[in-house]
Amino acid sequence: MRSIIDIKELSVEEIDELVAVGKDIIANPAAYAHKCEGKKLATLFFEPSTRTRLSFEAAMYELGGHVLTMADAQSSSASKGESVADTAKVISCYADIIAMRHPKEGAPMVAAMNASIPVINAGDGGHNHPTQTLADLLTISREKGRFDHMTVGFCGDLRFGRTVHSLISAMSRYPGVRFLLISPEELKVPSYVKQEIKAHALSYQQTTDLVSAMPELDILYMTRVQKERFFNEEDYLRLKDSYILTPEKLASAKPDLCIMHPLPRVNEISVAVDDDPRACYFKQVLNGKYMRMALILKLLGIR
Ligand code: NCD
Repeated sequence: MRSIIDIKELSVEEIDELVAVGKDIIANPAAYAHKCEGKKLATLFFEPSTRTRLSFEAAMYELGGHVLTMADAQSSSASKGESVADTAKVISCYADIIAMRHPKEGAPMVAAMNASIPVINAGDGGHNHPTQTLADLLTISREKGRFDHMTVGFCGDLRFGRTVHSLISAMSRYPGVRFLLISPEELKVPSYVKQEIKAHALSYQQTTDLVSAMPELDILYMTRVQKERFFNEEDYLRLKDSYILTPEKLASAKPDLCIMHPLPRVNEISVAVDDDPRACYFKQVLNGKYMRMALILKLLGIR
């Protein structure tokens, strides 16, 4: 039995395999419609979510399985003081697999250590978000046809953005990837994430300037400033509109740039960019569902 808490737990070969399954689901959805018959997914979300929870649930339904949902932490036993470990043991009696989101870093790992069924980390605090990364990787594969030899720009809240940490970690394993880390001083990538880039002998540059980085980018990954992780409102208000992508700022971008965003968008990308053929953020949403289907099948041992 295996859980997925961190994207690095999946080897490069396994990522290729999951991406291939994701593409096969897109090509032959009917072949997957009954694969999870009789199986139940429990979604335990202790933090707000729209797309990730519904994406997991849609994924399980499209596999012919069932869903047990705990969407509101206020109405759960956690509000009575139940530990994550106990919750995981209890849910193991009801479901076959768990997708868990939690505001505390490491909570899904604690759940995995105590559950007798696979646990998928659906986002833990400002740490990791491996299934968003799977969505991002399928998007990159479909748009670019490769994961190597490209310049990837991450822009916005690189300190608290868990989707950024997981995608950097995944992309660090491919040769010739260069990272341009564009953020305000206060919201730079944590050093443990930079260590991963260095460990693979890849290069990165940190800058505050999106416009001068633009011409070099093959991928631009915009992110929201993570309001819920700030200790004071003032800092958030000062930093929230640091970067707003507009058609004007894209003037110097490559014609085949891939513009990504894990969503929800607040103000980081002007809606005027949505009609640009390089905008890929709504494609990421759909790709996320296919990759969650592929991951559920893998963890349940269904071919
Ligand atoms: C992201 C998250 O929850 O970390 N959303 C998502 O799952 N697509 C990004 C965010 O909230 O900014």
